[in-house]
Amino acid sequence: MKESASRSGNTFSFERLSDRALEPKTVSAVARDFYKTTLSMIDEFMGMLDRWTYETRTHSWRATHISLMIGEKMGMTPRDLFSLGVGALLHDVGKIRIPREILLKPERLSEEEWMIMKLHPELGGFILDRFPSLHFAKDLVVQHQERWNGSGYPRGLRGKEIVQGARIFAVSDSYDAMTSRRAYNTVKNHEEALLELSMNAGTLYDPEVVHHFLEIDAAYLLGEQASFKEEGVLEALFPAERFIQLVTE
Ligand SMILES: [Fe+2]
Repeated sequence: MKESASRSGNTFSFERLSDRALEPKTVSAVARDFYKTTLSMIDEFMGMLDRWTYETRTHSWRATHISLMIGEKMGMTPRDLFSLGVGALLHDVGKIRIPREILLKPERLSEEEWMIMKLHPELGGFILDRFPSLHFAKDLVVQHQERWNGSGYPRGLRGKEIVQGARIFAVSDSYDAMTSRRAYNTVKNHEEALLELSMNAGTLYDPEVVHHFLEIDAAYLLGEQASFKEEGVLEALFPAERFIQLVTE
């Protein structure tokens, strides 16, 4: 009696459920789903962090867009551009391990709190160690606060000891920071930000990166064309098929 009820589909059957879960799927469909899931998780995750720390969703996206524009001008390969894009999106992921009372403190940080805050690039590296398929983004995450003249952190790397992606990101992150309203900074306009980046080319920033940044049409940084797509931009730039092709070729 029980069996026939199960067969008729009126009762719950574990076997039926697992049969359904095992419906065949092609490897590429699985890879595509996994890829989309990974990018969407990064997107949601970093969006949350942006809202917490900058009170705006746009910081990571803007800095990622600008990094990709510079990378493209510098002739990076599609594979390197993809690493740059993912690394740029994830750059501050280590901040999720910084205590909330420090991360979200509205007042200026004490010296001791600032030392803890400065651990975030390496904490980001530890997090990425747990995600083998994102390992290619680790160097940018760990090195995004390093500066050309060795004045950055955590290691004080200099010049080309810093990976190219992190040298590019330093410029786009700084441009976005200068032109966005955040606690403790006076907002600069586009020209003032360009001037400051140019003045620090060769000291804080890789001069070649600044040179290519200055080539970007201002319309892409400001105004209409700067209305960056808020989500799914990596997926738009690197559709799953293209990504699979990149990692398998
Ligand atoms: Fe950072």
